[in-house]
Amino acid sequence: MRYVQEQCTLIYKEEIAKGVFSFTLKAPQIALRAECGQFVNVLCDPFQLRRPISIGGFDADAGILRLVFEVRGKGTDWLASLEDGATVDLLGPLGHGFPLMASDKKAVMIGGGIGTPPLLPLCRRYGKNATLISGFRTASAVILKEDAEAFGARNVVCTDDGTSGFAGFTTQALEEELKNGTFDVVYTCGPKIMMKKVAELAKAYDIPCYVSMEERMACGVGACLGCACKTKKEDGSSAMTRVCMNGPVFEASEVDFE
Ligand SMILES: Cc1cc2nc3c(=O)[nH]c(=O)nc-3n(C[C@H](O)[C@H](O)[C@H](O)COP(=O)(O)OP(=O)(O)OC[C@H]3O[C@@H](n4cnc5c(N)ncnc54)[C@H](O)[C@@H]3O)c2cc1C
Ligand code: FES
Repeated sequence: MRYVQEQCTLIYKEEIAKGVFSFTLKAPQIALRAECGQFVNVLCDPFQLRRPISIGGFDADAGILRLVFEVRGKGTDWLASLEDGATVDLLGPLGHGFPLMASDKKAVMIGGGIGTPPLLPLCRRYGKNATLISGFRTASAVILKEDAEAFGARNVVCTDDGTSGFAGFTTQALEEELKNGTFDVVYTCGPKIMMKKVAELAKAYDIPCYVSMEERMACGVGACLGCACKTKKEDGSSAMTRVCMNGPVFEASEVDFE
């Protein structure tokens, strides 16, 4: 069993956009085991079911873990109410993360809104060879630009209303990038409709593509089937797969986006 249950200390909480929080935690056991694209299951004290949150950063040497989450309901609202010094009960790291190429390969990452945090460790991994395309409703909702750039990554911000960066969808920005540059690998996390289009573009340009599926979850460790999603087998038939165990990252051609 590679995952552990760890009582972690919240070192620094910051509201980085309205309703979006960044937690920096002392979590040496989980940070030591973490890989890009994995997640932790967070105990939100009054609720029995843990909430899955992607690992938005980890430093094994310093024993530090970063989580970035949006308040969506009762669990994340409770989590956001914690203050520095609080203890947070985490189970992790869970799931299969993003397959990595050599760090001198050129990677393009496409994040839709709160799907952007799991791509941040990839910015660290690929550094100046990383291009992050991240999409938000409006300028005030933009997150993680400085963090991605601090790792040397180029960040193309897209907003629906054109108040910051490229006015339009991330998939339009990706199309431009693919026309004008060469990439060795594509990674994406965000709304299914966005990831479907990203997968189609990657296929058209014959680039390997990995998608992170953020299905609703319950146990997070393969016991309840609450996270099953449709995947394609090699013979073209469909199968149901547990995202918490076999994902959240899948090779794009395995996923049935319909
Ligand atoms: C692998 C994975 C990684 C994720 N990473 C992040 C992240 O980095 N940042 C972030 O803001 N959000 C992330 N999410 C979504 C996050 O888990 C939900 O927003 C959160 O569980 C909502 O809980 P709640 O109690 O606030 O909402 P409620 O709607 O009150 O939750 C009720 C129940 O539904 C489950 N649930 C609701 N929405 C989701 C959802 N989208 N995914 C999974 N379970 C859900 C909750 O766990 C809980 O059991 C991730 C989801 C998955 C599966
Ligand atoms: S969340 Fe229970 S099997 Fe995946």
